[in-house]
Amino acid sequence: MTKVGVIVGSLRKNSFSSQVAKNAVELLPEGYEAEIVEIGHLPFFNQDWEGDLGTPAEVTEFRNKIKELDAVLFVTPEYNRSIPAVLKNALDVGSRPYGESVWNGKPAAIISQSPGTIAGFGANHHLRQVLAFLNMPVVQQPEAYIGSVHELLDENGKLKDDTRNFLQSFIDAFVDLIKKHTQ
Ligand code: FNR
Repeated sequence: MTKVGVIVGSLRKNSFSSQVAKNAVELLPEGYEAEIVEIGHLPFFNQDWEGDLGTPAEVTEFRNKIKELDAVLFVTPEYNRSIPAVLKNALDVGSRPYGESVWNGKPAAIISQSPGTIAGFGANHHLRQVLAFLNMPVVQQPEAYIGSVHELLDENGKLKDDTRNFLQSFIDAFVDLIKKHTQ
């Protein structure tokens, strides 16, 4: 079984990001299992964890969980043209101690969403920049910018057909990338 961790950049209950994430993971083929990895409980990264303070248990648990994954799907809103702090914190927490980053080499995919028409482009590309440094191969095409998201979800949180079909092509590209990096 190939394990895909899903990291959602919003803590809001019923957030559009988590609704999009749920739709996306339903499109994974057989042999793949998806798990939402929570990030809201993580403390702010503190480099003193590597010294006197010691590492908090929830941080060690988070790092171990990421290590077990074969790939990571990020679904995020845009906050002030960038990624939400909670997501950057999770990336920082997993990246240390130096040389022991749990992200290293894991294939990834990025979906940004927004009720606005720019569709989280800024967040998508700031996240891409961070993942490049973390040495995560990322799906390049198709790019997933889900704009006017509130108009694309029905009352049950299902994406309308056109968007679902698009997301299927995105997930197919993600699966191809995962296969390249896990065989
Ligand atoms: C936003 N929002 C927003 N939208 C956008 O397209 N570009 C932006 O830069 C921002 N900035 C921003 C900052 C902050 C602090 C908040 C709370 C919101 C609006 C945002 O897209 C909207 O609230 C989404 O619904 C957030 O995603 P979730 O929580 O529904 O997943």
